[in-house]
Amino acid sequence: MNDGTVIGVIGAGAMGRGIAQIMATGGYRVVLVDTNEVALETALQAIATTLDKAIARNLMTPEDKTAALARITPELALESLASADLVIEAIVEQLEVKAGLFARLETICRNNTLFCTNTSSLSVTKIAAGLVHKSRLVGMHFFNPPHIMKLVEVIETPETPEDVITTVMQLARKIGKQPIRAKDRPGFVVNRCARPYYGEALCILEEGNFTAAQIDTALRSAGYRLGPFELIDLVGADINYAATLSVWEALERHPRYQPFDRLKQQVEAGKLGQKSGEGFTLPKVPVTELPP
Ligand code: NAI
Repeated sequence: MNDGTVIGVIGAGAMGRGIAQIMATGGYRVVLVDTNEVALETALQAIATTLDKAIARNLMTPEDKTAALARITPELALESLASADLVIEAIVEQLEVKAGLFARLETICRNNTLFCTNTSSLSVTKIAAGLVHKSRLVGMHFFNPPHIMKLVEVIETPETPEDVITTVMQLARKIGKQPIRAKDRPGFVVNRCARPYYGEALCILEEGNFTAAQIDTALRSAGYRLGPFELIDLVGADINYAATLSVWEALERHPRYQPFDRLKQQVEAGKLGQKSGEGFTLPKVPVTELPP
């Protein structure tokens, strides 16, 4: 990967826009693709706002911002990724949809274009299963928000050659991230550990003795950066539920990872968190004291 490298990012939602931003500030040319024009416009505005905050904190200059934005080309058509050297997918968390997207991409991109999926929890091996060149697809799992969170899980499949892992790890380091190499196991590392964390919080909520805001406050005060419910609202209840389901299924429905109806109801009610404006902790309500 060098200065002329073109990075494709598919999906301009919460993750795709952040990934596009850090690739652009890292000096790469970015083609950002989404089927939804409004999502593309919103993404570019959100990136500009985040860069303005970086300028206000003296982390970059207005010229850096202009240059970074100029490196991002928004596009509606997947065909615009024909010249991409590496493509990162950040669309819906559904195996068939992701697999179908990469199969289409394989007919558009060069044979040596690397494919990365930002899946939270799906099997990277299964996403790659239908490809002619399976070895070119790995997981590149960023965390939310991508411009702040340091970790990137680089997920290898049994087909992944060493040089592909090396390239993706180097790219992550070049944009200031701390990559770890992970096996293609359900939930990888972080999302596997996080399942029981969310599950126990939902269990406490169901018992009815504490509100979501109180549980969040307790966990924050105990040193966690975010409480479980504000984290669900940040990630998106839909994404969180999809990740819970896929980890549970992949681990043969082990009771420890069982999805809670409360989370499913939240998704069905459209209370997805930041992306819908309503969630467990949104709109904000004042936090009352914890009961004794
Ligand atoms: P999102 O719902 O905010 O954005 C998804 C975007 O993809 C939307 O703008 C949608 O229009 C677009 N899209 C859907 N199908 C498309 C297609 N076929 N072609 C082009 N664009 C398409 O989702 P979010 O939260 O950004 O998640 C995306 C992926 O990243 C998921 O796989 C998720 O599991 C993963 N992820 C999410 C994290 C989070 O905290 N939200 C953290 C890490 C990974």
